[in-house]
Amino acid sequence: MPPESSPHDLASYWMPFTANRQFKEAPRLLVAAKDMHYTADDGRQILDGTAGLWCVNAGHCRDEIIAAVTRQMHVMDYAPSFQMGHPLAFEAAARVAELMPSGLDRIFFTNSGSESVDSALKIALAYHRARGEGQRTRFIGRERGYHGVGFGGISVGGMSANRKAFSANLMPGTDHLPHTLSIEHAAFSRGQPQWGAHLADDLERLVALHDASTIAAVIVEPLAGSAGVLVPPAGYLERLRELCTRHGLLLIFDEVITGFGRLGAATASEYFGVTPDFITLAKGINNAAIPMGAVAVKREIHDAVVGAAMTGAIEFMHGYTYSAHPAAAAAAIAAIDLYRRERLFDRARELAPYWEQAVHGLADAPHVKDIRNLGLVAGIELEPRAGQPGKRAYEAFGKCFEQGVMIRYTGDILAFSPPLIIQPAQIDHIFDTVRTVLREVA
Ligand SMILES: Cc1ncc(COP(=O)(O)O)c(C=O)c1O
Repeated sequence: MPPESSPHDLASYWMPFTANRQFKEAPRLLVAAKDMHYTADDGRQILDGTAGLWCVNAGHCRDEIIAAVTRQMHVMDYAPSFQMGHPLAFEAAARVAELMPSGLDRIFFTNSGSESVDSALKIALAYHRARGEGQRTRFIGRERGYHGVGFGGISVGGMSANRKAFSANLMPGTDHLPHTLSIEHAAFSRGQPQWGAHLADDLERLVALHDASTIAAVIVEPLAGSAGVLVPPAGYLERLRELCTRHGLLLIFDEVITGFGRLGAATASEYFGVTPDFITLAKGINNAAIPMGAVAVKREIHDAVVGAAMTGAIEFMHGYTYSAHPAAAAAAIAAIDLYRRERLFDRARELAPYWEQAVHGLADAPHVKDIRNLGLVAGIELEPRAGQPGKRAYEAFGKCFEQGVMIRYTGDILAFSPPLIIQPAQIDHIFDTVRTVLREVA
């Protein structure tokens, strides 16, 4: 007989994106959450500076969402979405569509950001094929892009650590634009850097190399989060849109973190005034209460794919068992209602100047090499410790947690993305703690 499992046995769970051996020697365990705080297993309150993983936009354990999910679980726990449906799926899709830029009102549900990205890539291929341009199979991503962990997502993604172990198996026919970060030209930019719009012109080079007729779509995060908060230079996204339109390439904005208010508007597309052909979503869609993601698709693209099939035939051979899960759909409707009722996207916009001032107050703190921000997102890039890349940021992350503040780090960059309900005093507390910690780390 195997030994009885106990909550203190940490061996069985192979943790994702985690240094498992190191973690299990000194675990950081969270056991409860409410509004802006987690509770650690030793009873300490931890201020959430990252909205979980950029996803709990309305704060934790909101009563309205809990009630909606609980009600739904009593009524109907699960319903298949293949050749069947349930009312909340349609209602949730309509609610999501209302928040998207005009024209992107066809919603395909998934369960995560990675699935949303792979679904969008497949819809792009289906669209070109439906129009008799099936030779458009190539995808253009961007260096330092993060599009989740599916084979499609890592192929168009540009984070080498996520690609190298799988390099022989990446999707053929992908290429990459250069990333937009330049500490040399734009260090300590407040909001969008003024330098770098011309980097979008590299798409012309890729079009000249591959020919537009072979390219299906370009995918970028309007603001890259996971690779360390890369804010798009002023004019960059506009130029990318213009070039995609000129060459007949579809443009996908991966808004898994920027969707649902992070920048102070429902989407980054709305914030920047640039409308792509697809928006990939997840995270804030239902305040992370139940796994859910979605792709918002331009109506003409949907109509072309659906219209190309014979009546009675399944038009798009793709979907997930849990697409539009009833509990996730109930949570999405409740979360979107909550965002609206509490005007949380406006609140993010109103707080953004205070947030910017607070984070840039750390410009003179030890080890700081660059500070970047937009909406309620910020990144502080540290000088790496000689011969130990990422170590200093990891230690800062660990010490912040010990001192009751949850932040994230990637490489030598500290990242911040709190719930949109954060109070100014809590913003001060986060950055005061970071300042103290930066004095402590060598
Ligand atoms: C821009 C972007 N795309 C995709 C993903 C992947 O989402 P998930 O972890 O839900 O698969 C993430 C996750 O952080 C993301 O930031």
